Amino acid sequence: MRPLTWLVSVVALSAAVSAAAQVPASPPAPPPAAPVAPATPAPPGPPVQQPVTPQPDAVGDETAGYAWAGACKECHAEVHAAWSHTKHSTALNRLRGDDRTGTACVGCHVTGPARLLSEGADVKNAGVQCEACHGPGRAHAEAARAGSPASAVMVRKVPESTCVACHNEKSPHYRGFFYSALIGLVHKTK
Ligand code: HEC
Ligand code: HEC
Ligand code: HEC
Ligand code: HEC
Repeated sequence: MRPLTWLVSVVALSAAVSAAAQVPASPPAPPPAAPVAPATPAPPGPPVQQPVTPQPDAVGDETAGYAWAGACKECHAEVHAAWSHTKHSTALNRLRGDDRTGTACVGCHVTGPARLLSEGADVKNAGVQCEACHGPGRAHAEAARAGSPASAVMVRKVPESTCVACHNEKSPHYRGFFYSALIGLVHKTK
């Protein structure tokens, strides 16, 4: 290996290791799910792995508060169109092979839980979606569909702390982050 290549590898590796050691604080966590009462008392012995009730999807309640970007498009078509032209919408495409399935990289290149939520060929949390910045929006989408969007409001003024959960020196490609200069670009066509 040439010295420069070697240096870049070491830097990338240590960044990956530190990223793995401390998974970046994810954007707003989903609200806690309502506890589900077990159908029968738990038998003695090792903890039961199988859920007693069917889960909404293979990944369970961790994603329950999310509606994903396709649902937001229904009412926010213009914002969705602008966002879909930004690199946030395709951020997962930057990762290849093991980087997509491991824990070192994926947390900052997807929305919600730091792993791929695959549905057939689709990854429903791919990229930095609306809910990475505005918080989980399933309740808002449902309230808006029912005619009362004000009963479940989203975060409108996304704070800098949300951005720097990903835009920080744990990113192997970090080049600095300038909130006030960049905030106006997040829904703008490049
Ligand atoms: C990278 C973070 C980020 C992503 C991703 C993002 N937004 Fe925003 N959004 C913002 C910021 C920042 C504002 C402006 C807040 C301000 O200055 O008042 C905003 C404002 C809004 C507003 C308020 C009205 C407006 O246009 O200013 C709506 C509605 C909205 N976003 C919807 C969405 C939807 C729908 C998506 C996905 C298709 C999305 N946002 C993706 C950060 C984001
Ligand atoms: C059924 C229609 C509908 C859907 C679906 C929907 N919204 Fe909204 N959204 C609205 C309406 C209506 C408002 C209120 C607009 C206003 O008062 O200015 C709103 C407002 C917002 C705002 C501004 C802050 C607030 O709550 O007033 C944001 C941000 C936002 N929506 C994001 C999203 C995101 C992200 C999604 C997808 C998870 C989404 N919306 C899905 C209809 C919808
Ligand atoms: C979940 C992690 C995450 C969050 C939260 C996030 N970003 Fe990003 N952002 C990324 C990643 C990853 C990229 C690189 C995408 C690529 O190059 O494919 C990126 C790229 C960008 C770009 C370049 C986009 C382009 O199309 O050239 C801007 C500008 C940006 N982010 C601003 C922001 C701002 C402002 C916020 C907060 C309001 C924010 N980001 C929140 C992960 C995030
Ligand atoms: C702490 C969050 C974070 C982690 C961890 C992370 N990235 Fe990123 N990635 C970003 C952000 C933010 C950007 C946009 C550039 C920046 O950092 O300002 C980005 C940009 C990129 C780009 C685009 C190149 C460029 O110069 O913009 C590639 C490729 C990439 N990341 C790959 C990876 C790989 C591979 C890993 C794991 C080894 C990884 N990322 C881990 C946040 C992260």
